[in-house]
Amino acid sequence: MSGIEVEGGCRLAGELEIQGSKNAVLPVLAASILHAGVTVLTHVPDIADVRASVEILELLGVKTQWLGHTLWLDAAEAVPGEIPRQLGERMRSSVLFLGPLLARFGQGCLYAPGGCAIGQRPVDYHLAGLEHIGARLEVEEGKIQAQAYSLKGGLAELPYPSVGATEQLLLAACGAEGETQIRGAAREPEIVTLCRYLRRAGAEISGEGSSVIRVNGFQPVRDEIRFRIPGDRIAAGTYLAMAAMTGGKLHVQGIHPGHLWAPVCAFRRMGCELRLLPEGIFLAAPERLLPLPCLETAPYPGFPTDLQSSFLAMMAVAAGESVLEEKVFENRLAMAGELNRMGACIHVDGRTARCSGVERLHGARVRGTDLRSGAGLVGAALAAEGTSLVEGFEHVERGYEGMLPLLQDLGARARKKTE
Ligand code: UD1
Repeated sequence: MSGIEVEGGCRLAGELEIQGSKNAVLPVLAASILHAGVTVLTHVPDIADVRASVEILELLGVKTQWLGHTLWLDAAEAVPGEIPRQLGERMRSSVLFLGPLLARFGQGCLYAPGGCAIGQRPVDYHLAGLEHIGARLEVEEGKIQAQAYSLKGGLAELPYPSVGATEQLLLAACGAEGETQIRGAAREPEIVTLCRYLRRAGAEISGEGSSVIRVNGFQPVRDEIRFRIPGDRIAAGTYLAMAAMTGGKLHVQGIHPGHLWAPVCAFRRMGCELRLLPEGIFLAAPERLLPLPCLETAPYPGFPTDLQSSFLAMMAVAAGESVLEEKVFENRLAMAGELNRMGACIHVDGRTARCSGVERLHGARVRGTDLRSGAGLVGAALAAEGTSLVEGFEHVERGYEGMLPLLQDLGARARKKTE
């Protein structure tokens, strides 16, 4: 267990270069199994989820080496080993290894990730999609055994634009004969990044970024693939929200501002001044944030569920009534209770949070139960009067590299507490 102690009341100010994207690098790491050669990934965030993926790759016979933020991988001698339960439990996206294992070896075996703090998070769309293109699956006590003598392209229609299921199908489709068409696909920038990597590895893909993606075949290449992981739009939004909450000024460098369009609009509606730069965003906060009468999370290009907790923390100190609806996950508003312990006035009914902004939050002992709520609480603690202890910081470290020193550089007074 680890926590951070935060002395609130300082304005975050300065400039930061954003880390590589967690949600982009994880599927690319799974995809590297498809390339029976060397992949060199640059701008890789050094976070717990990436370390867990690298452990899985090593277990599957991939040679790996870190050099700063560059990760060298050689999957020439990869094997279709079983991914043990404890690794699957540590990181949900381990399920994404199923697709590439099926595509390259015709078999894969791993454990379904369980529910987590933000909801059930089933993988039924992943499995139905894989079956649809010819995989035979046996699921017993959470163990998924998949086999495919030959995967056959076809039409796979997703009932919801699930990011993970779209990635799973893209990865498996690289081993299929004929065209695979994914309808109802997720449109997130991270899907586009995965497709760019797959194309480098030999896939013929079109339509990424739209809701119909076609995979027409895969001609494996032998050459070394060098690939840069783009900046993390969610981490960027998280730090901008912290600046907004503390009345600060922040320049985040290393992201495409268009990928944060919905949050940019929401920041502006809350009274922040934003300048969109070619590869970054500058935000200046008002003395007091304005309330947002209606904010709904939605699949991209809608407002990202991963920034919901940060915005709830902002609403907690805005000058008036805000309403936030979580439409993607069924249980992602638990953090409201923690904010209330800091003096916020939030009432949750199902997936809707109604928030009457207060002038100031006060320091308290609070706990983040997933990485995004943990980050939102750190923001709230920075904005509060007095000292807070934000527990569950280990969740935050799953996704944010070096958050503590980074915040200290921007003027935060915070230190780690480990039990
Ligand atoms: C990814 C992101 C996560 C983000 C989420 C939504 C990664 C590693 N994680 O998660 O940060 O919060 O997208 O933008 O990229 N669902 C099913 N059955 C399935 C799959 C999904 O019912 O088989 C449901 C989920 O329970 C959820 C919704 O679909 O309610 C969206 O989930 P999905 O887009 O798949 O999220 P992840 O890929 O798990």
